[in-house]
Amino acid sequence: MIKFDFKTYAKSFINEEEFNSLYSRKNEMIEKLKSYEMTGWMKPISPELVSDIKRCAKNIKDNYDCLVVIGIGGSFLGSYSFSKLFQKYFDDRSFSVIYAGTTLSSKYLEELQHHLDKKNFCINVISKSGSTMETTVTYQILKDLLRRKYSEEELKNRIIITTDKATGPLHEEAMVHNYQTFDIPENIGGRYSFLTAAHLLPLALNYNIDDIIEGYYEGERLIDIAYEYAVTRRLLFNQRKVVENFCVYEESMSAFTEWLKQLFGETEGKDGVGILPMSTIHTRDLHSLGQFVQEGNKILFETFIKVTNSDSFIEYNKQELHRINNIVLDSVVKAHYSGGVPCLEIEMTELDIENVSSLIYFFMLSAAFSAILFNVDPFNQPGVEVYKKEVKQALEK
Ligand code: PA5
Repeated sequence: MIKFDFKTYAKSFINEEEFNSLYSRKNEMIEKLKSYEMTGWMKPISPELVSDIKRCAKNIKDNYDCLVVIGIGGSFLGSYSFSKLFQKYFDDRSFSVIYAGTTLSSKYLEELQHHLDKKNFCINVISKSGSTMETTVTYQILKDLLRRKYSEEELKNRIIITTDKATGPLHEEAMVHNYQTFDIPENIGGRYSFLTAAHLLPLALNYNIDDIIEGYYEGERLIDIAYEYAVTRRLLFNQRKVVENFCVYEESMSAFTEWLKQLFGETEGKDGVGILPMSTIHTRDLHSLGQFVQEGNKILFETFIKVTNSDSFIEYNKQELHRINNIVLDSVVKAHYSGGVPCLEIEMTELDIENVSSLIYFFMLSAAFSAILFNVDPFNQPGVEVYKKEVKQALEK
């Protein structure tokens, strides 16, 4: 179960009349959202695709000891952050999933090459456009490594391409070499592609994707509350609260906040508007950014993600440590609110696959509504192209 409270510790910042007036437009906004072409993520996934993904994952596990997932932005953050949430902190499983493609660091890529040289690995390269630089560079380097070790015929077993169905360099390469492929549907953009093969294939290696799919669609019933969250954020923005800080109390949720930052940042940060997303991992960051939040420039509001129960039973002074962690959370909410920081709360009873999958759908809905309330297109990211053009020009000199 997931509970939401966007009122108790934000009420003094929200004008009730303004809230009611904007909230009363909910049905109009739901219709507007559904009218966008890029809402394939709100439609059901085909059972045939789910079976193909499971078959491919089983084949990978049966034949290799490592899968390297290559992708960036929306093409990697979904499955990466999800798996970080459920992975053990100290993991000694024999099969590993390595994420690459997010950096041009030569040190990192050289060390990765050396590491993989000793492994029996295969690659899943994920890019909707098929032309993203970081992904392409990493893919070429690792493909060269595969080529040094195996025949062209063997590469067909070891390379899986997830990309656009009909266009792009990766699509063309898959056609020429007869590589295995999965599609990213035309009507789903990167950061909304959680329930596509882009994320479900890497996740199928370690999780039951039926649970993920079920939890995700459970999130549909949160559409009203997702709109309420978007309205609350928008009204806080009108009060000069232009930064949203996502606060989590479990280190394993850190990558999830990276997913949130990308989702909200790319969805609503355009045309000179939007709320800047940031995150703090508590209690660690209470000893760094906590000072700014409590007493600094009042440009922030916070969204706390709380987990009520834990299956770890460590005690300190005869009290459950998880309970102490949550007592700290509740106290921080009160302290920050008293310091002029509105605090919104999302509480999962358990940190489990179903709840997290529902929450992912909830946040995708909220981000899209937020963009609509800012009058910007939720599904494009024209700003990302600007640096790419500069890089292209600089490399051509
Ligand atoms: O959310 C998005 O659309 C972006 O973050 C993309 O996922 C990211 O830029 C990677 O693009 P591509 O999948 O084309 O390599």
